[in-house]
Amino acid sequence: MSQLFSPLTIRGSTLRNRIALSPMCTYSSEDGFASDWHLVHLGTRASGGCGIVMCEATAVHPDGRISPQDLGIWKDEHIPGLRRVTDFIRSQGAASAIQLAHAGRKAGTYRPWSEVRGFIPIEDGGWERIGPSPIPFRDGAPTPVEMTQQDLSDFIEDFVAAIRRSDEAGFDVVEIHSAHGYLLHQFLSPISNHRSDAYGGDFKGCTRLHHELVEAVRHAWPETKPLFIRISATDWVDGGWTIEESIELAKSLKSLGVDLMDCSSGGSTPDAQIPVGPGYQVPFAERISREAGILSGAVGMITEPKQAEEIVSSGQADLVFLGRELLRNPYWAHIAAQELGARPNWPNQYAWSVG
Ligand SMILES: Cc1cc2nc3c(=O)[nH]c(=O)nc-3n(C[C@H](O)[C@H](O)[C@H](O)COP(=O)(O)O)c2cc1C
Repeated sequence: MSQLFSPLTIRGSTLRNRIALSPMCTYSSEDGFASDWHLVHLGTRASGGCGIVMCEATAVHPDGRISPQDLGIWKDEHIPGLRRVTDFIRSQGAASAIQLAHAGRKAGTYRPWSEVRGFIPIEDGGWERIGPSPIPFRDGAPTPVEMTQQDLSDFIEDFVAAIRRSDEAGFDVVEIHSAHGYLLHQFLSPISNHRSDAYGGDFKGCTRLHHELVEAVRHAWPETKPLFIRISATDWVDGGWTIEESIELAKSLKSLGVDLMDCSSGGSTPDAQIPVGPGYQVPFAERISREAGILSGAVGMITEPKQAEEIVSSGQADLVFLGRELLRNPYWAHIAAQELGARPNWPNQYAWSVG
């Protein structure tokens, strides 16, 4: 029997299988609003059979957007558009998830298909970036303003407000984005965090913001709803954040109510040498799950049904997150079910003719 197609219950949510649409920015919002694009893009992956459909990195504050076209949830007016998306995802039997994000020092870039690349200058519509320390991401990138205690409190407040809106918008799962060199990862990594106050220095200091945030978030997010966090399990550079620290972080976040660690890597420096290949981040999910005793998600070049089945059935991860493969083929889950001898779950509109 396929384990990939076995259900998983986390708190009050039962996922129909272990396949998650990985969060992927589509840079298609105006002023943060979800549009028909989001309904169709995410809705297709829900009718495509995913267990969880996760929205792209969604900004908790306009200054936390990676690009001006990012999806947002910093005001109540954003709720109805998102509600439309979650209603449709649920109607297709999938759980809806939202990844809440702040880009910190990596905020304010042109979207990938713009004629111009890189960071947007303030005079062309960019904005002041914030971060743990005034260290730019790379040569020529903007130098962020070091966050004060007030900025940190405001950040937690913005996040909690976004969590409340996520609940009102009908999301089943929230994922905190603490990977890929964005704001929360910037606090963890010695590459970007040179603070000498309570939010820097040793492991306890660099993880303090995570602990405060998760405590606040867990109070605001219903007890019955799962909470995930995506981390970069390693920076892939000497002197950077490590897998051992990720395991320690997972243990403490579990005790504060995080249910699943979504294990990605990299993004804090352009100098990292990353050995990209099929399933290259799976060992991080496996170690974190085994050594911290927490559910884990594996992501990164998982493209084949048998590969995904092996990851779940061998206990390396509880969920597989698929990114680009689900862009190529939104119906991947149905095809995988056929290949693995599980029952495909085509929507009725298609099942009578192709199922
Ligand atoms: C177009 C695109 C946008 C992405 N946006 C996000 C994002 O919003 N949040 C995030 O955590 N990862 C993001 N990622 C990373 C993916 O979620 C995923 O981790 C990565 O693509 C590796 O998985 P894959 O090999 O299955 O594509 C993005 C990747 C792509 C290709």
